Amino acid sequence: MEKNKNTKSFIDLAKRRGFFWQSSEIYGGTSGMFDYGPLGLLLKTKLINKWRNFFVKQEDNIFEIETSIIQPEKVFEASGHLDSFIDPITQCKKCNSIFRADNLIEEKTKEFVEGKKPEELTKIIKENNIKCPKCKSELSKVKIFNLMVKTFLSPTEDEIAYLRPETAQGIFIDFKRILVATRVKLPFGVAQIGPSFRNEISPRQFLIRLRAFSQMEIEWFVVPEEIKIHPRFREVEKVKIRILTRKAQEENGNETILTASEALRKRIVPNQNLAYFLARETQFYQSIGLPFEAFRFRHMLPEETPHYSKGNFDLEIKFDFGWKEVVGNAYRTDHDLKKHMEKSGVDLSVRLDDGAKVIPHVVEPSFGIERTIYGILFHCYRDDKERGWEWFAFPPSIAPYSVGVFPLVNKNGLQEKAKEVLKLLKKHFDVFYDDSGSIGRRYARADEVGTPFGITIDYDTIKNNTVTLRYRDTTKQDRVKIEDLVKIIYMKVHS
Ligand code: ATP
Ligand code: GLY
Repeated sequence: MEKNKNTKSFIDLAKRRGFFWQSSEIYGGTSGMFDYGPLGLLLKTKLINKWRNFFVKQEDNIFEIETSIIQPEKVFEASGHLDSFIDPITQCKKCNSIFRADNLIEEKTKEFVEGKKPEELTKIIKENNIKCPKCKSELSKVKIFNLMVKTFLSPTEDEIAYLRPETAQGIFIDFKRILVATRVKLPFGVAQIGPSFRNEISPRQFLIRLRAFSQMEIEWFVVPEEIKIHPRFREVEKVKIRILTRKAQEENGNETILTASEALRKRIVPNQNLAYFLARETQFYQSIGLPFEAFRFRHMLPEETPHYSKGNFDLEIKFDFGWKEVVGNAYRTDHDLKKHMEKSGVDLSVRLDDGAKVIPHVVEPSFGIERTIYGILFHCYRDDKERGWEWFAFPPSIAPYSVGVFPLVNKNGLQEKAKEVLKLLKKHFDVFYDDSGSIGRRYARADEVGTPFGITIDYDTIKNNTVTLRYRDTTKQDRVKIEDLVKIIYMKVHS
């Protein structure tokens, strides 16, 4: 695989075919913000549907809710985001460019400095003579910058609020309502899908570091004493997962492949609840087009672990620039519920069947939608010299369009017949119609956007109601009856 060429090629293809473009482009664009075009939005919607099916519908006790995107300051005072959701920054004294101090130091010295205080970072910058990467001038003292996007809720601007930096807090502050509404018993989960915002200092790498992005999160609530047990662990105990342990990181070692139950037995993963999600994520990411070798779970080092977590296993995808976190799996304990209880004065504990009251512990998988999409694009991109054009090998379940319909020629009633087939298929799938240019060009355009099935209407169709069904991955074709089309395609799209 050619490195940067590949990244550039798939991004160029995705942009050219209108998957995404930069927000506010006609005004010069906004860094860290992208808009989805028609194909990108179809891909995103299908990814979300698949996730919802996999992580909500197929579970026994996970409910989905939708909470406000803007939340008052008190929420983030309680959660700790006001004090701890921060990055160290430094500014060039001449050109005024702003940089993340820890990134600059790590790039220059290869020293890992996460968790160090601003004064320590300022000292390291001085000692290593680190200058502005743009104009080589001197850098300022390191300051702390809060990543939340601030806003005001009243005309007098005295009611401070923030755009949420994670969907999770909405779930914690609604916890009591959810308990009452569902009458559910522990363990149970609450999922939320939607936008989050972070004022990232250096948005970069296309969809990887954005200021406006979307998350799919689950807060899985458990009786603290039962954290080691998950009711459905047996179903995933044999699933193989790839883990980069803390020890391997310290020794520059490689990942280990273990079944979920081996990972527990060897005390690499601390409890069944985390292990269950790692196994399910492994199954999910393979089902959306990522090879097993393309992702791993890295046990985060203590100094990188977020303020609310007692341990993180982050799912990282391999890109040509290195591994990048796409899902954060955190053991949040009772941190959030406890803090919101203290701040609001509302009792968020749960009464168990034996009458005891507990504050549940939480395991949280937090999926980034855009980073996942970037991973799908990267790993499904095919620069196919033999075929003569590039294409995306999206699994049928997430491909933006499932089917393309093509009349072989635009005369003798073939267009009319093709439109009949189109109408039939549109009831069940996302389908497009293309009658322009040669049939080869039309297959190429369909492959480029990852359409797994192509249907060509020819003269035999008029005679005997059969069509050719072309498979994107192999380019092979079958002759099938129109009446069988929906069933054949449905089985593949929903497998
Ligand atoms: P990073 O260290 O790369 O900034 P993070 O540790 O801050 O990531 P989390 O806070 O764990 O990320 O967020 C959970 C998930 O939300 C991430 O795994 C990622 O997929 C997504 N996410 C977080 N920040 C961004 C961002 N700026 N742009 C796009 N996705 C993001
Ligand atoms: N909810 C985890 C995170 O976004 O950081």
